[in-house]
Amino acid sequence: MNKKKELGEIPPVFPNGWFALMESNDLAKNSSKFIQALGENFAVFRDADGEVHVLDAYCPHLGANLAIGGKVRGNCIECPFHGWLFDGNSGQCTSIPYSSSKPPVQAKVKSWPCAESLGFIMVWYHAEAEEPFWQPPQIKGVSDGEFSFCGRSEHYISTHIQDLPENGSDVAHLNVLHTAGIPAGPRLVDLHGFLSKIFTHSWTASWKQGDPSHTSTVALTHTGKVLNWRVPFMDIISNIEQKGPGIVILRFDSLFGLGQGVLVQTVTPVEPLMQRMVHRFYFSNPWLKIVGKIFLYGENVQVS
Ligand code: FES
Ligand SMILES: [Fe+2]
Repeated sequence: MNKKKELGEIPPVFPNGWFALMESNDLAKNSSKFIQALGENFAVFRDADGEVHVLDAYCPHLGANLAIGGKVRGNCIECPFHGWLFDGNSGQCTSIPYSSSKPPVQAKVKSWPCAESLGFIMVWYHAEAEEPFWQPPQIKGVSDGEFSFCGRSEHYISTHIQDLPENGSDVAHLNVLHTAGIPAGPRLVDLHGFLSKIFTHSWTASWKQGDPSHTSTVALTHTGKVLNWRVPFMDIISNIEQKGPGIVILRFDSLFGLGQGVLVQTVTPVEPLMQRMVHRFYFSNPWLKIVGKIFLYGENVQVS
């Protein structure tokens, strides 16, 4: 090993972009949650009007956690220790209950740009603290509630977040690693066993850098075979969009001829080398949610 090798410029630990902190339906009005991710401590709360706010969690007075035991009052959160009140938009302390003086300007917590998108509460993270220069996506069918929510899944993956978008563009591995169908199960050792031959996948895919540069797309075609016989209704064409490092959207124009599907994937670094990946699946046909559930299960086998 060349010990004289220069390290060069080391990039920031976490990349810039929008990242899911939690799912929208896990945060009721007038409630708060403490979330640790991206090397930060977040107090996430929803006010009575339904608007979400994200502040640094620890109170600048004596360090209590605003999200644990703090009360939501209007668009502010009240510290559970001495009752100082912090504005959810600016992070400024607006009132100290036992003082008639105006709170000092330095009584302030950092407030984070946040948004709700596709069933998730997202925060904008930028290593140099720049303001958002793109917004998290809204999608017809999902954002307007027209499609039915079919289920969710969650994986913790021990890797750097950069490996995941790079894996998405690595189309060469699809016909090596992702050929075995659901019967083979998620274990790598079963990939070439008898059960892996019952139902098989084959893929064609092409990756393209997007414009703007935080995006990319993969055009993916899937063919399904049962005992080596092609089953035409299992042909699936999907369009996959990467939006920054933390969001991926897979759209299926026709899932087994039964409806349109959207799989939303978010990836959030909970530590530098530990990622939380969440999938939520939406299907246009409300009578056949079971199709969405089976599809999500198959997706989970592939992820595992
Ligand atoms: S620690 Fe928050 S008000 Fe004192
Ligand atoms: Fe893969």
